[in-house]
Amino acid sequence: MPRFSLTTPIYYVNAKPHLGHAYTTIVADAVARWHRMLGEDVHFLTGTDEHGLKIQQAADAAGVSPQQFADDIAPLFQQAWERLGITNDDFIRTTENRHKVGVQKLLQACHDAGDIELDVYRGLYCVPCEAYYTEEELVAESGASNLCPIHKKPVDAVEEENYFFRLSRFEDRLLKWYADHPTAITPQHRMNEVVGFIKQGLNDFSVSRKTLKWGVPLPFDESHVAYVWFDALSNYLTAIGYGTDDAKFKSWWPVDFHLIGKDIIRFHCVYWPAMLMSAGIEPPKGWAVGGWLLVGGEKMSKTSGNVVNPLDLIDDFGVDGFRYYVLAETPYGNDGDFTYEGLVARYNSDLANNLGNLLARVATVVGKKCDGIGPRPSESSPLAASAKEAVAAAQSAWSAVQPSKALDATWQLIRATNSHLENNEPWKAEPGPTVDAVMGDALEALRIVALLTFAAVPTTAQAIWERIGMSGDVSEQRLPDAAAWGGYPGGVQVTKGESLFPRKQA
Ligand code: MSP
Repeated sequence: MPRFSLTTPIYYVNAKPHLGHAYTTIVADAVARWHRMLGEDVHFLTGTDEHGLKIQQAADAAGVSPQQFADDIAPLFQQAWERLGITNDDFIRTTENRHKVGVQKLLQACHDAGDIELDVYRGLYCVPCEAYYTEEELVAESGASNLCPIHKKPVDAVEEENYFFRLSRFEDRLLKWYADHPTAITPQHRMNEVVGFIKQGLNDFSVSRKTLKWGVPLPFDESHVAYVWFDALSNYLTAIGYGTDDAKFKSWWPVDFHLIGKDIIRFHCVYWPAMLMSAGIEPPKGWAVGGWLLVGGEKMSKTSGNVVNPLDLIDDFGVDGFRYYVLAETPYGNDGDFTYEGLVARYNSDLANNLGNLLARVATVVGKKCDGIGPRPSESSPLAASAKEAVAAAQSAWSAVQPSKALDATWQLIRATNSHLENNEPWKAEPGPTVDAVMGDALEALRIVALLTFAAVPTTAQAIWERIGMSGDVSEQRLPDAAAWGGYPGGVQVTKGESLFPRKQA
């Protein structure tokens, strides 16, 4: 069976899950579901990033141990993902033993290769970023200067003896690797950004902290703990058995896609492949870089205080309503502006008016004109071509991690089916072969829509499937074959049921 693996970033446990975290996780889930429907053996990994100064400080502020702090927050992520229907195959916490073993193995491998060395470091550190900045990178705002460009907070001047990863030695190797793998990072402009950054020259980075205790001890010097980013990036290996289950590790690495936000590209596309090369491990096959969800033009984050809790939105819009908005509204890779009005508008237009209305009207007409029994589709329906196009376009969009494009293609079919009904007005016609043909075609289109929407809105897809009289689970169908025109058997009971997406007031 072909294999497909993908990861989300692991989220810091200093904040409760918010829309920004949900965003990448939902995109990853939809992509994972799509690949499972292609019949692939999928490994979808997410988890939490629990070490480092940021968590230590948050725990101190809360008056609990960092372990206790992490133990309180990590389950909130697990529960949120469960409620959002996230089908991750594993959830790694960086405080787990399997992770520690793997991080130490990776550190040792880079050390053995001669790429980790002791040195003294002076630098400007932003704790919320867990990263050093150069003076040129700092910004000024509202009368204050020397602020972190992302959090707009003062940075700390730090001087300490650290172990360094000799990133500067990897410039040529990274450039060659990217030249040999020109499509590894999407969107393309992110690849250009990474290559441009490497060409400017790379600085070694510190991989250990002596003053901090909350982390994984270096195997070759236990008076230091690993830098949180070295620790965190390793999760992609440790979760699939690096250091604990070699056969499993070999069967899943290299990963097909790391899904990451644009703020963590440098770590993922420069540090990470260099660390892997040093340890003699192949770099990832791909990175899909997403934008930010903005609220009033600002990145939503704990530090900015403009956080939207995804679970509140589910109460109003349903899991699928929320998932759909997140997937359809913003092309993955771009920034999106989250507004409540935008959510209502998209829900009403695409879900209530287009999809919900199509299903309701098909079920009503079949109930009235076909005794509730769905007729067979015709072989030469004008909808067959629309369906074929939708399947092909959805397939290529999902493989390129472009859910909004895939959904757009799917909604073309929904719109074409609504138009087909409006052009033929079966509700006005007498029962008979003409009505049967139109309704059979609409039901077949809905069957294909259920298959194409399952990745994004799984509960809705299954509901459509059952209401048009199909048996079994949508998830067990295999694409693209199952979506070939003509699969609707006819002669099955069609049920009207409650409205899937009641309209919302803005
Ligand atoms: N722990 C690190 C990642 C380590 S991965 C080896 C981290 N955690 S984070 O919780 O701060 O952010 C994780 C991801 O969520 C980042 O990719 C970030 O871009 C994404 N998002 C956080 N807020 C976001 C938005 N408001 N919008 C979209 N994505 C956002 O960084």
